[in-house]
Amino acid sequence: MPNELIRNFDYVEMFVGSAKVTAYWFVKALGFEIIAYKGPENGSKESCSYYIQKNKIKFVLTSSLTPRQYEINSFVTKHGQGISRISFEVDDVELAFKQATDKKAVPVKFPDKSEDEFGVFEDASVGIFDDTELYFNNYDNYKGPFVPGFTAMNGIIKPNDKDTALEEIDHIVGNVRENEMERWANYFINSFNFEEIVSFGPGDIETQYTSLISKVVASKDRKIRIPINEPFDGIKKSQIDEYIEEYKGTGIQHVALMTNDIIQSISVLRENGVEFIDIPDSYYDMLKEKHDKLPKEKQMDESFDELKRLGILCDFETEGYLLQLFTKPIGDRPTLFFEIIQRKRGASGFGHGNFLALFQAMEKDQASRGDLVDRKNRSSLKDKS
Ligand code: FE2
Repeated sequence: MPNELIRNFDYVEMFVGSAKVTAYWFVKALGFEIIAYKGPENGSKESCSYYIQKNKIKFVLTSSLTPRQYEINSFVTKHGQGISRISFEVDDVELAFKQATDKKAVPVKFPDKSEDEFGVFEDASVGIFDDTELYFNNYDNYKGPFVPGFTAMNGIIKPNDKDTALEEIDHIVGNVRENEMERWANYFINSFNFEEIVSFGPGDIETQYTSLISKVVASKDRKIRIPINEPFDGIKKSQIDEYIEEYKGTGIQHVALMTNDIIQSISVLRENGVEFIDIPDSYYDMLKEKHDKLPKEKQMDESFDELKRLGILCDFETEGYLLQLFTKPIGDRPTLFFEIIQRKRGASGFGHGNFLALFQAMEKDQASRGDLVDRKNRSSLKDKS
């Protein structure tokens, strides 16, 4: 697929237990606005969806209204709340679908045109990971609030006054089983003409307990970036193992939301009650040492104390630096979470330098769930203590 066909990340759809309650959280906690709705009131008897937006970030939250609705019910029963679809906006849906499936992408939805008084919307989809779909969408001939079937909804639920300053999707990450990373990296490379831009092998990312390998595949122009993680044979169960066990399969681990002012974003998100992973003080001791050795022009613009107070992580690259922080899992299972990210002075990485600190912090949470287990005898470290 010529990558020029792909314009940008489009919406991300989640299948959830209650779209209404989840929409309330996205609005109040993350600052999204409800733009459009589909449900029994406008002809959708079996499912209900809220289309929400924050700047260029678009989400659809969907739940089932009847036991007969198989697709959503089976997904939620198996995976819990999770991302069922990600999508790209493309120039030509038919061509994108044809070129992907010619290269062995698994067809799920054949190119389709749907129509209402606002025009014609086109989409198609292929499978990725276990039960996730990748949609190709085109709205060039559609002027409605979202897609046919949705009607504009002028939010009764309004975001809080303070701006969370979240701008757009930076990257979307998948977790796969052992021995599957190569396969999925090649799937993206072959089916969508992506290329591998980063690769971490055995031993590169390793704590006392966790070990993983990771590759980043991206479109040629780097607008679409998909890191893929695979558990590696660590002594103990890794977060990736935990995700796969709890999600009952492979899928989307996190969506990274880009901000131009991470201090503002994290301050407001914390005020709104969003929970973030706890970063140990030792991380900032290490960071300060590293930072103070840098020449003045490479040091951070932000106040170090402010970063520490807000628990923000920083990864220095050869040129710029990356500021990031990860939420705790947003649902009831330890699966999907968000990343808040700011790229400074052209930073282009994904914070792999922070993985160790991140994993150590996450392992504390894993232990509290009795999930930090020895892979050989499956006994929980928490049970032992
Ligand atoms: Fe990330």
